[in-house]
Amino acid sequence: MSSFVDSALDLPAKVALLTGASMFTLRPEPAIGLAELRLSDGPTGVRGLTFSGGPAVTLFPNATLLASAWNTGTAYEVGRLLAEEAAAQGIHVVLGPTINLHRSPLGGRLFEAYSEDPLLSGALAAAYVRGLQDNGVGACLKHLVANESETERHAVDCVVDEATLREVYLLPFEIAVADADAWSIMAAYNRVNGTPATEQAHVITDIVKGEWGYRGLVVSDWWATTSTAPSANAGLDLVMPGPAGPWGRQLVDAVKAGEVDEAVIDDHLGRLLLLAERVGAPQPSREVPAPDSPVRRAQLTRLAAEGMTVLTNEGGVLPLRRDTTVALIGRHAVDTIDMGGGSAQVNPPYQVSVAEGLTELLAVTVVDGVEVRERPVPAGPEFAVHPDTGEPGMRVTLHAADGSQLEERDCPAASTMIGIDDDLPEPPRVVRLSARLPRGGRMLVGGIGIGTWEVRAGGQTVRFELGLTSGDVGEAVLRPPGGTVLVDVEPGELFEADVALDAGRGLYGLVARPAPDDVADVVGRAVAAARSVDVAVVVVGLTEEQETEAVDKTTLRLPGAQDDLVAAVAAVAPHTVVVVNAATPVLMPWLDQVDAVLWAGLPGQEGGHAVAAALLGDIEPAGRLVTTFPAADGASPAWSVTPVAGRLEYAEGPFVGYRGHAADKAPAPAFWLGHGLGYSTWAYSDAAALDDVGHRVAVTVTNTGGRTSREVVQVYFRPADEDQPVRLVGWGAATVEPGQSARVEVTGDPRLRRRWDTAQGSWADLPREGELLLARGLGDVRATLRLGSA
Ligand code: BGC
Repeated sequence: MSSFVDSALDLPAKVALLTGASMFTLRPEPAIGLAELRLSDGPTGVRGLTFSGGPAVTLFPNATLLASAWNTGTAYEVGRLLAEEAAAQGIHVVLGPTINLHRSPLGGRLFEAYSEDPLLSGALAAAYVRGLQDNGVGACLKHLVANESETERHAVDCVVDEATLREVYLLPFEIAVADADAWSIMAAYNRVNGTPATEQAHVITDIVKGEWGYRGLVVSDWWATTSTAPSANAGLDLVMPGPAGPWGRQLVDAVKAGEVDEAVIDDHLGRLLLLAERVGAPQPSREVPAPDSPVRRAQLTRLAAEGMTVLTNEGGVLPLRRDTTVALIGRHAVDTIDMGGGSAQVNPPYQVSVAEGLTELLAVTVVDGVEVRERPVPAGPEFAVHPDTGEPGMRVTLHAADGSQLEERDCPAASTMIGIDDDLPEPPRVVRLSARLPRGGRMLVGGIGIGTWEVRAGGQTVRFELGLTSGDVGEAVLRPPGGTVLVDVEPGELFEADVALDAGRGLYGLVARPAPDDVADVVGRAVAAARSVDVAVVVVGLTEEQETEAVDKTTLRLPGAQDDLVAAVAAVAPHTVVVVNAATPVLMPWLDQVDAVLWAGLPGQEGGHAVAAALLGDIEPAGRLVTTFPAADGASPAWSVTPVAGRLEYAEGPFVGYRGHAADKAPAPAFWLGHGLGYSTWAYSDAAALDDVGHRVAVTVTNTGGRTSREVVQVYFRPADEDQPVRLVGWGAATVEPGQSARVEVTGDPRLRRRWDTAQGSWADLPREGELLLARGLGDVRATLRLGSA
């Protein structure tokens, strides 16, 4: 702490800076020349300073899809583009990347994190961080640590042995700190081995700031901090959001009472000032391509398509020829899901569905699919429009207890956050939501959000109560209760709902959609269309109900009757291609009945164009899986995410994902991490270790197919000691023309060749005995190099 700061600010003034000023801003302090700092979620777009109702911003492909390119250049490019987006809005720090691991496939938030593998996650994170920070915008690694699932997320105690913690769950953080010096890190909601992550002196102070020499800022996850002295003393530097919170006056008192040393406060403030210095003054005027500009469209299409992954491709049905006739089937074809739910959501300027994308390129018959929603969701733009302007969205008026109007909002979507990131003179008591229903016919209408509802539509007035279903009011924002009713409406009719609020805050929205069709009718239409074309393309998937913050999955089964739809189509179509519009593993009971499966992730606003480009081979879907797909529910090394008496045991230790499958701790998976066919075939030859420890290896890859393609050579180390799991130690890639070869060299990361010696409290080198596997996922090992003793 400089003596200037020390003399300019007294203790309360210093402490005041250590809690946010609002949801996403930090307090300025003119006395020391400190300007307001602005933070924004991340990680797949820069949403802005509010949770909902923000500006239209670019929606990138989700983290797993980007990670599937296995390309640090891609991760760097995304960081750089996000820095542009941040600069355009005067944002200093983007709250990402999310680098928790895909421990159990049930984890709701996996879509937001890169991989089940710590090296892949860490290396991509480091590149993304450099992309942001090289361009003056701070990154925030989140969430430190052992934050791999959502159930009871504010209280769960994740029990992880020290070796696993360091070798697996801390490793991505360590890599991103050591290799990219991320300017901030977010402490998680959960407990780790009994202690809240925000009070984890062992992790924050001993390991991160101590052993790793980290100079950056550790910020709490939003509302995660529940203590004063314990969190301040543990190394947490900043409490978010503000202005209220457990520090402030109480922290001043704790210092006066001798519970917290003033030097601790100075250290926190010093780190905050370093962040301010690093991010500098924002440059909001910087020329940045608009979210809907041709340059962004092209970037987003390429980024999404390159990560898409060909899981199967019998008889080379993919890529589709341009003269193919196609029946494009499925709810996800017409209502493509481009992002997950929760804080990673942004408000994109537009979203291209697969139906829109493919019909631009091919003769396509589009057939809507079966229902995929399990609870009411806000109306899509085509089903609810502002009553006056006719633009997608709704009008919202907020009223005080005496009926006076506090605010009127024009919302571009059919949902809005109330009482959370707005600044109202008093809590609203009644909210009126109004829209017109442009389409007539039988509709399912209603509302989402806690309160007492009166809904008026189709000449009917319906009243219902919506209470908390689980968690608290804050969490209900991410999973609000809903109520619906079927009504017959005339096109353009007014639809209104008055809600008496209990809590005064939450997410509120209007539900409006056509009444669901009978499954047999939907399947019948799909089958009829599939019979008369060359290829049926069925788009299935998950939605932001499953791929979301705050809620975990309970099954990997596709929701609704989607599996039945695929099976029925596959039974009659000459060829069937399934596109999976999901970020995380799903079960595919129809796998043997279809010709090809393309895994499309949550592809961002250009999703439909990217899927079309991948299906036609205009861009090679050269992705490799970033997580292992179990063959059945329960068939993974870690499965349950439900704490037992508040504790979630990471009992599989370091045998997470493919590492556990390979050690027979779970049945053989449907697809291994690293699997992906691209659009060519490969021969491997002349594999060799380039040094006697096997840190550097080389292999020749020959493109034996008919198309230029990108091959990813993965190198795994299988230690002779069976207590040590096989692990990815590095990868390399080459883009090669048909009939040509390339020599690919891979340098392994030495951090994967060590183990944590708990008794000694230090790292030890792993014995060099073992094997190096050169593979395309562990289900397709192409060369094995034995490593002897020294
Ligand atoms: C999430 C964080 C996010 C924060 C701010 C929390 O609920 O866990 O990842 O950055 O909210 O929106």
